[in-house]
Amino acid sequence: MKIAHISDIHCNFGSDFNEKIFDKAAKMVNKVDADLVFVSGDLTTEGLLSEYKLAKEKLKQIKGKLVVIPGNHDERNLGFKLFPEFFGETDFIQDYDNMNLVGLASSEPDKDNGRLGRGRHKIIEHAIKKDDKLTVIGLHHHVLPVPNSGRETNIIEDAGGTLDIILKNEVPLVLMGHRHVQWGVKIHKSLFINAGTFSCTRTRAHFGNTFNVIDIEDDEIEVNVFDVGKEKSKKMIEFDLEEDSCKNNYYC
Ligand SMILES: [Fe+2]
Ligand SMILES: [Fe+2]
Repeated sequence: MKIAHISDIHCNFGSDFNEKIFDKAAKMVNKVDADLVFVSGDLTTEGLLSEYKLAKEKLKQIKGKLVVIPGNHDERNLGFKLFPEFFGETDFIQDYDNMNLVGLASSEPDKDNGRLGRGRHKIIEHAIKKDDKLTVIGLHHHVLPVPNSGRETNIIEDAGGTLDIILKNEVPLVLMGHRHVQWGVKIHKSLFINAGTFSCTRTRAHFGNTFNVIDIEDDEIEVNVFDVGKEKSKKMIEFDLEEDSCKNNYYC
Protein backbone atom coordinates (compact mmCIF):
# COMPACT_ATOMS: atom_id res chain seq x y z
CA MET A 1 0.00 0.00 0.00
CA LYS A 2 1.45 3.30 -1.06
CA ILE A 3 -0.01 6.55 0.32
CA ALA A 4 0.94 9.97 -1.02
CA HIS A 5 0.32 12.26 1.93
CA ILE A 6 -0.11 15.87 0.87
CA SER A 7 -1.24 18.79 3.01
CA ASP A 8 -1.84 22.52 3.24
CA ILE A 9 -2.39 23.30 -0.43
CA HIS A 10 -3.92 26.70 0.44
CA CYS A 11 -5.72 27.47 -2.82
CA ASN A 12 -6.33 31.18 -2.79
CA PHE A 13 -6.39 34.21 -5.09
CA GLY A 14 -4.05 36.23 -2.88
CA SER A 15 -0.45 35.51 -1.99
CA ASP A 16 -0.90 32.16 -0.20
CA PHE A 17 -1.12 29.83 -3.20
CA ASN A 18 1.88 29.02 -5.38
CA GLU A 19 0.18 27.62 -8.47
CA LYS A 20 3.44 26.88 -10.30
CA ILE A 21 4.65 24.77 -7.40
CA PHE A 22 1.27 23.03 -7.21
CA ASP A 23 1.44 22.06 -10.88
CA LYS A 24 4.98 20.74 -10.46
CA ALA A 25 4.13 18.91 -7.25
CA ALA A 26 1.03 17.32 -8.83
CA LYS A 27 3.22 15.86 -11.60
CA MET A 28 5.63 14.49 -8.99
CA VAL A 29 2.74 12.87 -7.07
CA ASN A 30 1.45 11.26 -10.27
CA LYS A 31 4.86 9.72 -10.95
CA VAL A 32 4.79 8.04 -7.56
CA ASP A 33 1.67 6.11 -8.61
CA ALA A 34 0.25 5.84 -5.10
CA ASP A 35 -2.74 3.67 -4.22
CA LEU A 36 -4.30 6.68 -2.58
CA VAL A 37 -3.56 10.35 -2.10
CA PHE A 38 -4.46 11.58 1.37
CA VAL A 39 -4.93 15.35 1.71
CA SER A 40 -4.76 16.41 5.35
CA GLY A 41 -6.58 19.73 5.16
CA ASP A 42 -6.09 23.43 4.46
CA LEU A 43 -7.14 23.07 0.84
CA THR A 44 -8.14 26.74 0.96
CA THR A 45 -7.01 29.78 2.90
CA GLU A 46 -10.25 31.53 3.84
CA GLY A 47 -12.80 28.77 3.21
CA LEU A 48 -14.37 30.83 0.43
CA LEU A 49 -16.54 29.38 -2.33
CA SER A 50 -14.11 30.63 -5.00
CA GLU A 51 -11.24 28.92 -3.19
CA TYR A 52 -13.16 25.65 -2.84
CA LYS A 53 -13.87 25.75 -6.60
CA LEU A 54 -10.19 26.39 -7.28
CA ALA A 55 -9.09 23.56 -4.98
CA LYS A 56 -11.52 21.13 -6.61
CA GLU A 57 -10.27 22.11 -10.06
CA LYS A 58 -6.58 21.97 -9.18
CA LEU A 59 -6.87 18.58 -7.45
CA LYS A 60 -8.17 17.13 -10.75
CA GLN A 61 -4.53 17.22 -11.85
CA ILE A 62 -3.76 14.49 -9.33
CA LYS A 63 -4.60 11.05 -10.65
CA GLY A 64 -5.97 8.17 -8.60
CA LYS A 65 -8.00 7.89 -5.43
CA LEU A 66 -8.15 11.10 -3.43
CA VAL A 67 -9.15 11.16 0.25
CA VAL A 68 -9.65 14.57 1.79
CA ILE A 69 -10.27 15.96 5.27
CA PRO A 70 -10.72 19.64 6.23
CA GLY A 71 -8.24 21.93 7.98
CA ASN A 72 -8.80 25.02 10.10
CA HIS A 73 -8.59 27.34 7.07
CA ASP A 74 -11.31 25.35 5.27
CA GLU A 75 -13.76 26.01 8.11
CA ARG A 76 -13.45 29.80 8.00
CA ASN A 77 -16.30 31.97 6.70
CA LEU A 78 -18.86 29.13 6.75
CA GLY A 79 -16.45 27.04 4.73
CA PHE A 80 -17.42 24.07 6.93
CA LYS A 81 -20.76 24.09 5.07
CA LEU A 82 -18.99 23.99 1.71
CA PHE A 83 -16.54 21.19 2.51
CA PRO A 84 -19.09 18.32 2.33
CA GLU A 85 -20.49 19.73 -0.95
CA PHE A 86 -17.08 19.64 -2.56
CA PHE A 87 -15.27 16.78 -0.84
CA GLY A 88 -17.83 14.69 1.04
CA GLU A 89 -17.69 13.28 4.54
CA THR A 90 -15.39 14.88 7.09
CA ASP A 91 -15.20 11.95 9.53
CA PHE A 92 -14.98 8.40 8.24
CA ILE A 93 -13.43 4.96 8.31
CA GLN A 94 -12.35 3.62 4.94
CA ASP A 95 -11.46 -0.03 4.39
CA TYR A 96 -8.43 -1.04 2.36
CA ASP A 97 -6.76 -4.42 1.89
CA ASN A 98 -4.31 -4.05 4.75
CA MET A 99 -5.52 -1.02 6.68
CA ASN A 100 -8.46 0.99 7.94
CA LEU A 101 -8.02 4.68 7.32
CA VAL A 102 -9.73 6.90 9.88
CA GLY A 103 -10.22 10.46 8.60
CA LEU A 104 -11.14 13.03 11.25
CA ALA A 105 -12.07 16.72 11.12
CA SER A 106 -10.11 18.29 13.97
CA SER A 107 -11.09 21.89 13.17
CA GLU A 108 -13.71 24.21 14.61
CA PRO A 109 -15.24 27.03 12.54
CA ASP A 110 -13.27 30.29 12.67
CA LYS A 111 -10.69 28.93 15.09
CA ASP A 112 -7.10 27.97 14.37
CA ASN A 113 -6.77 25.41 17.10
CA GLY A 114 -8.54 22.07 17.04
CA ARG A 115 -10.07 19.26 19.04
CA LEU A 116 -11.37 15.78 18.33
CA GLY A 117 -13.82 15.24 21.16
CA ARG A 118 -15.36 12.04 22.48
CA GLY A 119 -17.37 11.35 19.32
CA ARG A 120 -14.25 11.15 17.16
CA HIS A 121 -12.37 9.21 19.83
CA LYS A 122 -15.15 6.63 19.52
CA ILE A 123 -14.63 6.48 15.75
CA ILE A 124 -10.93 5.73 16.35
CA GLU A 125 -11.78 3.04 18.88
CA HIS A 126 -14.36 1.53 16.55
CA ALA A 127 -11.79 1.31 13.72
CA ILE A 128 -9.25 -0.34 16.05
CA LYS A 129 -11.74 -2.99 17.19
CA LYS A 130 -13.25 -3.60 13.74
CA ASP A 131 -10.77 -6.22 12.49
CA ASP A 132 -7.07 -7.02 12.66
CA LYS A 133 -6.03 -4.64 9.88
CA LEU A 134 -3.64 -1.78 10.64
CA THR A 135 -5.35 1.42 11.78
CA VAL A 136 -4.11 4.62 10.17
CA ILE A 137 -5.45 7.92 11.54
CA GLY A 138 -5.42 11.13 9.50
CA LEU A 139 -6.25 14.56 10.91
CA HIS A 140 -5.23 18.13 10.16
CA HIS A 141 -3.92 19.29 13.51
CA HIS A 142 -0.97 17.88 15.36
CA VAL A 143 -1.30 15.84 18.55
CA LEU A 144 2.32 16.52 19.52
CA PRO A 145 4.34 19.74 19.41
CA VAL A 146 6.18 19.85 16.07
CA PRO A 147 9.82 21.05 16.03
CA ASN A 148 10.75 24.00 13.77
CA SER A 149 7.16 25.18 13.54
CA GLY A 150 7.14 28.14 15.87
CA ARG A 151 5.53 28.79 19.20
CA GLU A 152 3.03 26.12 20.16
CA THR A 153 -0.54 27.41 20.01
CA ASN A 154 -2.65 25.10 17.87
CA ILE A 155 -2.18 21.59 19.24
CA ILE A 156 -5.56 19.86 19.67
CA GLU A 157 -7.20 20.63 23.01
CA ASP A 158 -7.64 16.96 23.83
CA ALA A 159 -4.15 15.91 22.72
CA GLY A 160 -3.53 13.98 25.97
CA GLY A 161 -6.67 11.86 25.69
CA THR A 162 -6.07 11.32 21.97
CA LEU A 163 -2.46 10.25 22.56
CA ASP A 164 -3.63 7.88 25.26
CA ILE A 165 -5.98 6.09 22.84
CA ILE A 166 -3.32 5.94 20.12
CA LEU A 167 -0.50 4.70 22.36
CA LYS A 168 -2.59 2.28 24.42
CA ASN A 169 -3.91 0.63 21.27
CA GLU A 170 -0.56 0.72 19.47
CA VAL A 171 -2.03 2.51 16.45
CA PRO A 172 0.90 2.21 14.02
CA LEU A 173 0.47 5.40 11.99
CA VAL A 174 -0.93 8.91 12.49
CA LEU A 175 -0.86 11.42 9.62
CA MET A 176 -1.07 15.16 10.28
CA GLY A 177 -0.47 18.53 8.62
CA HIS A 178 -1.10 22.15 9.67
CA ARG A 179 2.41 23.19 10.74
CA HIS A 180 3.88 23.49 7.23
CA VAL A 181 6.94 21.44 8.13
CA GLN A 182 7.65 17.78 7.58
CA TRP A 183 8.56 15.71 10.60
CA GLY A 184 8.14 12.29 12.08
CA VAL A 185 8.70 10.52 15.36
CA LYS A 186 7.97 7.12 16.86
CA ILE A 187 6.56 7.04 20.37
CA HIS A 188 5.93 3.70 22.03
CA LYS A 189 4.64 1.67 19.03
CA SER A 190 3.11 4.51 17.04
CA LEU A 191 4.56 6.58 14.24
CA PHE A 192 3.49 10.25 14.10
CA ILE A 193 4.07 11.85 10.70
CA ASN A 194 3.63 15.47 9.66
CA ALA A 195 3.45 16.48 6.02
CA GLY A 196 4.83 19.89 5.09
CA THR A 197 2.97 22.29 2.84
CA PHE A 198 2.37 21.14 -0.72
CA SER A 199 1.90 24.52 -2.40
CA CYS A 200 1.60 27.35 0.12
CA THR A 201 3.98 30.27 -0.14
CA ARG A 202 4.22 30.29 3.66
CA THR A 203 7.08 27.84 4.02
CA ARG A 204 9.38 27.91 7.02
CA ALA A 205 13.10 28.71 6.64
CA HIS A 206 14.57 26.13 4.22
CA PHE A 207 11.81 23.54 4.56
CA GLY A 208 10.32 24.38 1.14
CA ASN A 209 7.25 22.72 -0.36
CA THR A 210 7.10 19.00 0.24
CA PHE A 211 4.88 15.95 0.42
CA ASN A 212 5.37 12.52 1.95
CA VAL A 213 5.10 9.09 0.41
CA ILE A 214 4.36 6.26 2.81
CA ASP A 215 4.84 2.61 1.89
CA ILE A 216 3.12 0.07 4.08
CA GLU A 217 4.32 -3.43 3.31
CA ASP A 218 3.38 -6.26 5.69
CA ASP A 219 4.77 -5.02 8.99
CA GLU A 220 7.01 -2.30 7.61
CA ILE A 221 6.29 1.37 7.16
CA GLU A 222 8.65 3.59 5.19
CA VAL A 223 8.23 7.36 4.88
CA ASN A 224 9.94 9.34 2.12
CA VAL A 225 9.83 13.14 1.87
CA PHE A 226 9.64 14.63 -1.62
CA ASP A 227 11.00 18.16 -1.97
CA VAL A 228 9.12 19.87 -4.82
CA GLY A 229 11.59 22.72 -5.43
CA LYS A 230 14.66 20.48 -5.42
CA GLU A 231 12.85 17.60 -7.20
CA LYS A 232 14.46 15.18 -4.77
CA SER A 233 13.22 12.62 -2.30
CA LYS A 234 14.78 11.49 0.95
CA LYS A 235 13.94 8.61 3.21
CA MET A 236 12.83 9.97 6.56
CA ILE A 237 11.71 6.95 8.57
CA GLU A 238 11.78 3.15 8.46
CA PHE A 239 9.58 1.46 11.05
CA ASP A 240 9.42 -2.29 11.53
CA LEU A 241 6.31 -3.06 13.56
CA GLU A 242 7.12 -6.73 14.06
CA GLU A 243 10.59 -6.07 15.45
CA ASP A 244 9.58 -2.75 17.01
CA SER A 245 12.60 -1.05 15.46
CA CYS A 246 12.68 2.39 13.91
CA LYS A 247 15.33 4.35 12.02
CA ASN A 248 14.58 8.05 11.94
CA ASN A 249 16.83 9.90 9.48
CA TYR A 250 15.38 13.23 10.60
CA TYR A 251 17.65 12.85 13.59
CA CYS A 252 20.60 11.21 11.84
FE1 LIG B 1 -1.94 25.45 6.59
FE1 LIG C 1 -3.90 24.57 9.31
